Amino acid sequence: MNVTRILSILCCSFVLFCLTTAQETKQKPLYQRLGGYDAIAAVVDDFIPKAVADPQLGKFFAGHGDDSKKKVRQLVLDQLCEATGGPCFYIGRSMKVAHGGLGITESDWTVFVNHLVATLDKFKVAQKEKDELLGVLTTLKADIVSAQGAGMKK
Ligand code: HEM
Repeated sequence: MNVTRILSILCCSFVLFCLTTAQETKQKPLYQRLGGYDAIAAVVDDFIPKAVADPQLGKFFAGHGDDSKKKVRQLVLDQLCEATGGPCFYIGRSMKVAHGGLGITESDWTVFVNHLVATLDKFKVAQKEKDELLGVLTTLKADIVSAQGAGMKK
C-alpha cells in the first residue's frame, strides 16, 4: 500500500467521522425530543386538570363546562405542539386576548408552572427538554400575567 493510498483512506475516514458526528449532534425539534403529539397530549391531560382543580386557579375556570375545558385543552395542546416545532397550527386566540381581563397574577403563574413541572417530572422529562419547554412558556408570560397580586378582577 503506497503513501497516497494510506492518505486517501485516512482522509475518507476523517470525512466519515465528521459527517457522523455532525449528524449525531444535529438537534431534533423539541417536539420530537418530548416524544411527539401523544406524549405532549399526555402532559397536557395530566397538568391541565390539576391546574383547573387547584384552589388558587380554579376561580379562573368557574363557569366553564366540560366542553369549554376540552376546547382549552385542545388549544393548549395545539399551541405547545406548534411552539415546540411540531406539525400543528394553532388557530386559537392570542394569549393577550384569551387571558386579558382575567387578572392573572405572578403568583398564579408560579402555581400554574409548578403543576406543569410536577407533570414533567412525573413523566421523567429530561432537564434540557424541561428547560426548553419552560422557556417556550416564558415567552408567553407577559401576555398572560396582567395583575400585580390583586387576583382575579371581580
Ligand atoms: C396562571 C396561568 C393561566 C391561567 C389561570 C389560564 C387561564 C385560562 C382561562 C380561564 C382560559 C379560558 C379563557 C376563555 O374561555 O375566554 C384560558 C385559555 C387559554 N389558555 Fe390559559 N391560562 C394560564 C396560562 C396559560 C399558558 C401558560 C398557556 C400556554 C401554554 C395558556 C394557553 C391557553 C390557550 C391556548 C387558551 C385558549 C385560547 C382560546 O380560547 O382561543 N394558558 N386560559
